Amino acid sequence: MTNILLSVEGLRVSYGTGRAATEVLHGLDFTVSAGEAVGLVGESGSGKSVASLAVLGLLGSGGHVSGGRIMFEGEDLARAKESRMRALRGRRVSMIFQDPATALNPAFTIGSQLADVIRAHRSLRGGALGDEIESVLQRVGFREPRRAAKSYPHELSGGMKQRAMIAAAIVCEPSLLIADEPTTALDVTVQAQIVGLLRKLVDELHIGLVFITHNLDLMAELCTRAVVLKQGNVVEHGDVESIFLRPSHPYTQQLIDSIPRLPNVSARSTESGRGANHVK
Ligand SMILES: Nc1ncnc2c1ncn2[C@@H]1O[C@H](COP(=O)(O)OP(=O)(O)OP(=O)(O)O)[C@@H](O)[C@H]1O
Ligand SMILES: [Mg+2]
Repeated sequence: MTNILLSVEGLRVSYGTGRAATEVLHGLDFTVSAGEAVGLVGESGSGKSVASLAVLGLLGSGGHVSGGRIMFEGEDLARAKESRMRALRGRRVSMIFQDPATALNPAFTIGSQLADVIRAHRSLRGGALGDEIESVLQRVGFREPRRAAKSYPHELSGGMKQRAMIAAAIVCEPSLLIADEPTTALDVTVQAQIVGLLRKLVDELHIGLVFITHNLDLMAELCTRAVVLKQGNVVEHGDVESIFLRPSHPYTQQLIDSIPRLPNVSARSTESGRGANHVK
């Protein structure tokens, strides 16, 4: 892969200041190229979400980047001002969260929430805005996009809500998508469908994807490379098949051992029934 979109180099993140500061990420390195899905895996508390929030500039008031660089399209996001991050978020880099039910506003239709996202970054109005909304809803799998645009979140299933969230994440054509456990709240068959959709978007739109998960089966389905994190350190980084078929670190082996069916990784099965296991 050549076209590197994101290069995280020696990233350190700390919470608190002075003597009370605690470092939770101790030098993370990974890259994501256009059209590539990279998995971030590891036990709870290993630093997966902190890493993604750092990339998005969303660590919150207590957290800060205490070392390293986050190079994205030629710019170090670790040093970008909040106004710059606001312009980039949703436009060049987007995030999909775990629970679509809490991320969507129950009081507004899907169409009006997508319109808000579009208006924040693009100058589309009127019919062109409506066309764009229908087109993105179709792209993420709504067979009747006009009807879907008029729906309220409570009228949609969990999987459809997550598709609507994915529509909001891609509607401004970002080059990088970060998905933090986007399927955890969904049932197994729907998880596989959402992973299939993400794969399609990576391929068709040439988006770079960071896929955070506890589910190694789903990760193997979607990603070509993975970073294994433990307590804020990288324990392995490389292509998915060699990491999980020939793990060099006992921790990776432990993650694999908690998933009885992982040997299927070599087959790269696309059955929708796979992916039920969870290392958490
Ligand atoms: N706001 C915060 N203040 C202080 N420490 C935090 C904060 N957010 C996260 N941490 C710490 O950073 C470490 C990494 O947390 P993080 O949320 O990234 O884990 P994770 O790998 O995403 O876990 P999970 O799989 O449970 O989502 C943990 O030790 C956590 O306690
Ligand atoms: Mg997390």
